[in-house]
Amino acid sequence: MQLLVTGGAGFIGSNFVRHVLRTRSDASVRVLDKLTYAGSRENLAGVLDDPRLEFVEGDICDRATIEAAMEGIQAVAHLAAESHVDRSIISAEAAVETNFTGSFRVFEAARAAEVERVLHVSTDEVYGACFDEPFTEDDPLNPRNPYSATKAGADRLAHSYFVTYGLPVIIARPSNNYGPWQYPEKLIPFFTWRALHDEHLPVYGDGMQIRDWLHVEDHCRALMLLLENAPSGEAYNIHGGNERPNMETIRLIIDELGKPESLIRHVEDRPGHDIRYAMDASKIAAVGWKPQIEWERGIRETVRWFADNLDWMQRAIARSRDYFEQWYAGR
Ligand code: NAD
Ligand code: TYD
Repeated sequence: MQLLVTGGAGFIGSNFVRHVLRTRSDASVRVLDKLTYAGSRENLAGVLDDPRLEFVEGDICDRATIEAAMEGIQAVAHLAAESHVDRSIISAEAAVETNFTGSFRVFEAARAAEVERVLHVSTDEVYGACFDEPFTEDDPLNPRNPYSATKAGADRLAHSYFVTYGLPVIIARPSNNYGPWQYPEKLIPFFTWRALHDEHLPVYGDGMQIRDWLHVEDHCRALMLLLENAPSGEAYNIHGGNERPNMETIRLIIDELGKPESLIRHVEDRPGHDIRYAMDASKIAAVGWKPQIEWERGIRETVRWFADNLDWMQRAIARSRDYFEQWYAGR
């Protein structure tokens, strides 16, 4: 299989590329990545020299670039995105451009190239906050921040390409991922970095918002299963079965690092902060997937991985100092 992975130099993308090369000896992978602040060749350390991997630096929004990237490709895993909610609150522009218009370019180019499979990676955030029973794939989408709105737009555009043009699309809706190589703007790596430097941990509001944590390796197994086995036109929820209030996750990070709880500081909440994400994942369970990595062990190992890779974190943070200064000013 010749696979194109958009966003393959980011957090989930780089883990996915490694997973594919490790588990599918017949697969070769082309990565297309713009190398924004979130992406780096470094994230593909250990596989960049693999003859089955080709790395192309480029923008999915550029028509000629994405068309060229589709040449000789059988399957596409589309992960490229502006992935951070907080940044989309400062300005939605990059998210609209990449997540919606860029996805449009990917679907168009895949259609023109008559690609056999397109796996579109959406998110649980498209459903919006959950106040009742966990969402099933048939529930309406109700995104409430600019990031999730652009993802919901792309999710439905993907579906429309299946219905209208017969593009063989599968939609994955994963919950919050954690694991190695996550850019240190997200909760777990960011708080690990700050705690290690004895800096306060800015918890939005009361910290009782609930996220359902999914280890990236479990997620990669699910994505591969869907790419190879799911019927086109379907959407699948993927979660770790670990609904936790943020405070519980934060206390575990602190405990693993042996730091005091006095580092916790409750700060002004994020506008439009979704109180809880929760999904029903029985549909993917029926295809034969369930998460394997236990939450506490997974988080502790991940925190350790960041602590052991401080140089990598330092370089990642240095790529977007302005963002951290702007967003956390007064927080
Ligand atoms: P990330 O921010 O770590 O990586 C995104 C990658 O996309 C980076 O390498 C970046 O350089 C690249 N990119 C951005 N704009 C691009 C463009 N215009 N053209 C080409 N490449 C571009 O994100 P992630 O956490 O790995 O997320 C991957 C996908 O999974 C995204 O679609 C995201 O919405 C989705 N998702 C993530 C999570 C999570 O918890 N991280 C949860 C659910 C869904
Ligand atoms: P994050 O990792 O940014 O993912 P998402 O916003 O996509 O869920 O945040 C996870 C949770 O942690 C979310 O409820 C927001 C909260 N959070 C904080 O309280 N403080 C922070 O500095 C960050 C980055 C996140």
